[in-house]
Amino acid sequence: MTRASILGSKIFRQQAFIAGRWTDSGDGSTFDVSDPADGSVIARVTNCTTEDVQRALDQASVAWDGWKDRTGKERAAILRRWFDLMIENRDHLAGLISLEQGKPLREAADEVTYGTAYIEWFAEEAKRVEGHILPGHQRDKRIMVIRQPIGVVAAITPWNFPIAMITRKCAPALAAGCPVVVKPASQTPLCALALAELGRLAGLPDGVLSVLPSNRSAAIGKHLTESRIVRKLSFTGSTQTGRILLQQSASTIKKASMELGGNAPVIIFDDADIDKAVDGALAAKFRNAGQTCVCANRIYVQSSIYDEFAARFALAVERLTVGASLQGDFDLGPLIDEKALGKVRELVADATDKGAVVLAGGKVHDLGGTFYKPTVLSGVTERMAIATEEVFGPVASLLRFNTEAEVIARANDTEFGLASYIFSQNIDRVFRVAEKIEAGMVGINTGLISTEIAPFGGVKESGLGREGSRFGIEDYLEMKYLCLSVEAE
Ligand code: SIN
Repeated sequence: MTRASILGSKIFRQQAFIAGRWTDSGDGSTFDVSDPADGSVIARVTNCTTEDVQRALDQASVAWDGWKDRTGKERAAILRRWFDLMIENRDHLAGLISLEQGKPLREAADEVTYGTAYIEWFAEEAKRVEGHILPGHQRDKRIMVIRQPIGVVAAITPWNFPIAMITRKCAPALAAGCPVVVKPASQTPLCALALAELGRLAGLPDGVLSVLPSNRSAAIGKHLTESRIVRKLSFTGSTQTGRILLQQSASTIKKASMELGGNAPVIIFDDADIDKAVDGALAAKFRNAGQTCVCANRIYVQSSIYDEFAARFALAVERLTVGASLQGDFDLGPLIDEKALGKVRELVADATDKGAVVLAGGKVHDLGGTFYKPTVLSGVTERMAIATEEVFGPVASLLRFNTEAEVIARANDTEFGLASYIFSQNIDRVFRVAEKIEAGMVGINTGLISTEIAPFGGVKESGLGREGSRFGIEDYLEMKYLCLSVEAE
């Protein structure tokens, strides 16, 4: 796949998609999207204003009536066509992901599979939004609970999964009967626009899905959160931004789903299968070059196996390949931008200054740019920023521990609570630790936990709500209770 073939495809779009039409922004401005592998400009995209957002919201509000009145089965059929079209265009979608986000083509193809699975799943769930009949509180009373779509949804999505984080929000919203206005990350608007084009071809009615690229993220976030038209906000991104959006949403008492930062502990006990632990930690750490919110941030290894694990893990990390996404079959691509690289360098410098030892990597890759060597640091402690901040880069930190109680306390000593991982062959221990760990998700003897089938989300300052699974549609529905008085004969 070449850059020319990706940019020449019919799903490559640079304008905003508002109310069923491809359109420029009100002030005619654009912004550049670049390839993180070399910084070259790949597209000049419409830079939406808050007036454009308002236009999309007004149209979404009009479209809501028609969309919610369709049957679940009718909405399901359109979602299913959208899914089929994404699968037909999977190579181009994967190419677009690689080009604007930087992940290797193989991993980008995995994201297409992962992302489209949410559409397939919620197309099926659209038919299963069921209510309840409850026993009445008086003899003449009949009580019913119905569930209805909440209304217009605003989705603010991140750059690290430019397809999957959109489908994970749009699919349940659309299945429930809600129109969606998407503001994709300014680094990766091309996948979002490609999805809009495929949605149009699949038959999504005008105004039901709008996609508004913009680099005026703060202003657009404020407009969406303070709008009375938007009844539900779904955001994936940093805890810091999530906090601002939540505060702004308070003005309209908006329902919000927040999928925020993490500081995932991986706990490797001395009764673990070490091969599995090495593979699992590798997968949990280096997916998307460490740029996921479920990536391993602190790898706790029990003292008696620490040295053996560290040596084997460092060897496996040394073998990981790094390169520009469209130039070969690599394990890791570049980091998204200079800022991300700067943060990784700072965290590694802070850790080594305070006594951590580099077992692999530890510096910028010879390829230059934003490429960083897959890195292993040994002897990390919680005094180092790398153990308390989300790294979002290809650096694995190894910490030593002695007892189960100690490691649970240390793993939970964070404001975050998204993903966690345990490696042990002792089933009693697995249950004990899984139940005590403060996290929304626990991988047990595996480093890969993301799937459309399971509820994705965190506790504490990692977020609110769950995405995916049969629970994922709940956040887009409101319950209404009907109380009927039935005359006795
Ligand atoms: C994220 O990093 O926000 C999502 C990761 C995933 O879906 O696995």
